[in-house]
Amino acid sequence: MWDYSEKVLDLFYNPVNQGAIADPNEPDVAVVFGEVGSIACGDALRLHLKIQQSTEIIQDARFQTFGCTSAIASSSALTEIIKQKTLDEALHITNKDIADYLGGLPEAKMHCSVMGQEALEAAIYKYRGIEVEQHDDDDGTLICACYGISEPRIRRVIIENDLTTVEQVTNYVKAGGGCGSCLAGIEDLLIEVQQERVALSQRVTAEVAATPLSPIQKINLIQQVLTEEVRPILLADGGDIELYDVSGDVVKVSLKGACGGCESSTVTLKNSIETKLRSRVSPTLTVVEA
Ligand code: FES
Repeated sequence: MWDYSEKVLDLFYNPVNQGAIADPNEPDVAVVFGEVGSIACGDALRLHLKIQQSTEIIQDARFQTFGCTSAIASSSALTEIIKQKTLDEALHITNKDIADYLGGLPEAKMHCSVMGQEALEAAIYKYRGIEVEQHDDDDGTLICACYGISEPRIRRVIIENDLTTVEQVTNYVKAGGGCGSCLAGIEDLLIEVQQERVALSQRVTAEVAATPLSPIQKINLIQQVLTEEVRPILLADGGDIELYDVSGDVVKVSLKGACGGCESSTVTLKNSIETKLRSRVSPTLTVVEA
């Protein structure tokens, strides 16, 4: 039995925006749909968009989905998320946004959120007259023949969701879930992405170390990293952080909300925030709680 959030169950039992969109035959309005998956593989989604052409705003979104509880809920959530967004804004929506809207999905069902993101892209690319096969994400070596999954698609889902195991990749895009002959290829890709991450982080650290900052630049950059890269993660867990003071290489912060009373706050400070600030601002920084 899957452990679904209340939101998933609600959108499964009471899906919103289900169905197709009839062409209104109005000036300045276009209707388009994007399709992913196949009924033979278990899940299929057709996402319909009504777009105001002059502004590229999505006025309406509806879905037709063949699939399980989380496929229906993910499709319904996606239509709610993208309404009134421009096409460019919609292209920034990730499968994580869909899963977050639903209060999370069981990991084995994350492929439903990925399917939503891909249907959205398919619809937008179709509207813009770009063949899906021509856009970067689908132009690459085929890794999983059973599910027709290319290397760029697997690489993208690994990077966007910080995946580290083959099992996770299978849960997110189904690759590897058939005959299994592509499992070694997925493992190689995971290693490759990990090596690229390490190389990038070493390069950033070296660049940071080679670029001296004035005291005010240092404080501003610390504040920026805390606001843009640390706070969103803590907020998602019901916590928060505030910069209290910077004295030399000592950064004083106060943890709030769930983080304030959290027994693992010291570990969080050392392992997460300090590592982040050292790689982005200066390798000599130390973080302490105010
Ligand atoms: S080729 Fe990937 S599971 Fe068969």
